[in-house]
Amino acid sequence: MGEWFYDLPPDERRDLTRKAIFEKRTLIERWSGASGLPEENWAPRAELAAKFLKNAKIVVDFGASAMTLERFLAPDVQYIPVDCVRLDLVIEAKAFDSPEEKAAKLAEIAPFDYSRVHVVDFNADPLPDFGADTGAALGVLEYIYDPLPLLKSMRAQLKHLVLSYNLRTGKCVLEHRERHGWVSHLTRAEIEKMIADAGFIVDAEVHLGGKSWMWSLR
Ligand SMILES: C[S@@+](CC[C@H](N)C(=O)[O-])C[C@H]1O[C@@H](n2cnc3c(N)ncnc32)[C@H](O)[C@@H]1O
Repeated sequence: MGEWFYDLPPDERRDLTRKAIFEKRTLIERWSGASGLPEENWAPRAELAAKFLKNAKIVVDFGASAMTLERFLAPDVQYIPVDCVRLDLVIEAKAFDSPEEKAAKLAEIAPFDYSRVHVVDFNADPLPDFGADTGAALGVLEYIYDPLPLLKSMRAQLKHLVLSYNLRTGKCVLEHRERHGWVSHLTRAEIEKMIADAGFIVDAEVHLGGKSWMWSLR
């Protein structure tokens, strides 16, 4: 697979997703193409989530990627990033044209300290208990085959979770979702039932635009 998933033609992205679905595995190579630098287009979502988390002392960030959320939390919040990839190790293992280019890339991402990331594949591994009572799962359930058991495991350790999700609506073409690498296609009714079945109640919800919503769950 190339450097970055969205550089691929849409049909190729769809086919990679379908192959991963067939194999029922996380498309790790897609996430291993990430740059290691925070994604600015995900920042407004993280900033809004941080507002819901303003009284938190310890926050687990499920699917933390480049730890964008941490930038918006108060400095005294203990932040625990969890993801299926550790981006420093990805870059360490990558082939570069020269040792200098690799050293420059590692220096660029060094301030983010990815050694803190707990590597967990939510499609394959049991969820460890992180000893926190607050969490965020932003833009991650779309990549999970069986989100209810995961949400239940989060509930077992959290009093408060900020969740975002891109809903499937009547107008959705499944193939368009697969072009994003999404393997979960829940409608509003389905996600609301799942939230309740996991033992959460909705405390607040915000429309992020398009089909994307955020819920504060307690
Ligand atoms: C769309 S990004 C969202 C990143 C971050 N939450 C944000 O909003 O900026 C999805 C993240 O979920 C992670 N992810 C995808 N599938 C996963 C899995 N099966 N287990 C753990 N993390 C996963 C990816 O590595 C990626 O960092």
